[in-house]
Amino acid sequence: MKRSAIVETDHLTKHYGTTVAVDELSFTINEGEIFGFLGPNGSGKTTTLLMLLGLTEPSRGSASVAGLNPTRDAIKVKRMVGYIPENIGFYDDMNGKENLQFIARLNNIPDPVSTSKIEEALERVGLKDEAEKKVAAFSRGMRQRLAIAELLIKEPRLAFLDEPTLGLDPEGTTLITDYIQSLSKDNHMTILLSSHDLTQVQRIADRIGIMIHGKMIAEGPLEKLAHEKLGVEDREISLDEVYMKYFQEVSE
Ligand SMILES: Nc1ncnc2c1ncn2[C@@H]1O[C@H](COP(=O)(O)OP(=O)(O)OP(=O)(O)O)[C@@H](O)[C@H]1O
Ligand SMILES: [Mg+2]
Repeated sequence: MKRSAIVETDHLTKHYGTTVAVDELSFTINEGEIFGFLGPNGSGKTTTLLMLLGLTEPSRGSASVAGLNPTRDAIKVKRMVGYIPENIGFYDDMNGKENLQFIARLNNIPDPVSTSKIEEALERVGLKDEAEKKVAAFSRGMRQRLAIAELLIKEPRLAFLDEPTLGLDPEGTTLITDYIQSLSKDNHMTILLSSHDLTQVQRIADRIGIMIHGKMIAEGPLEKLAHEKLGVEDREISLDEVYMKYFQEVSE
């Protein structure tokens, strides 16, 4: 069954002075999928996300997010999309629960409804016992879990996650990746997951995009990319191997 596109870009381009951060980018995310967004440092992933969210304007080209133009309909897009930025921001002087209450109010969820949602979300990400702690005292892993809880409160149709496992230990990385998979499976969110952790991306992504120098040089399910690049069909493939092959060819 062919799924319908929920995110599409058409020659999306962003210049910062003489730097071309995103270069004529055209790619698609299908409704319901987990899209693994890969690429080396500085390849333009975060800039792409910022344009999809209407947080920065493209220099050229366009994007469509659930039928909306993020430049023209920035507020509507922000309402519909959950976003975990590279540097997660919470109010440090509020505790975990208060931060979630704040998010619920921002999203016009009435208090009687949000109270039980917050309890449920804290339980689901294993923060129930630490919910009254000020976020200033949260470890990195706890902040990432609170960010997942935020998505469970907002329940967006789409979630854009910019390196949500950065700096986590292996156990924390696996845990957060499991939560992300559950957002897709149990909450039916479409997920754009930018990450450098190829093992975890391989574990949960339906399709993969590899961005290098502002261009998407490969896009599709891992099996398709492995077939294209390595000519293999039936052996166990690692995303690591496929990624390095694409990367080497571009660097040659
Ligand atoms: N606000 C900015 N002003 C000027 N240049 C910028 C700005 N933001 C990004 N860039 C440049 O645009 C290019 C793409 O950066 P971007 O942050 O999108 O990469 P990335 O793929 O997210 O990298 P990373 O994996 O390190 O997070 C880089 O050359 C970067 O220096
Ligand atoms: Mg980035």
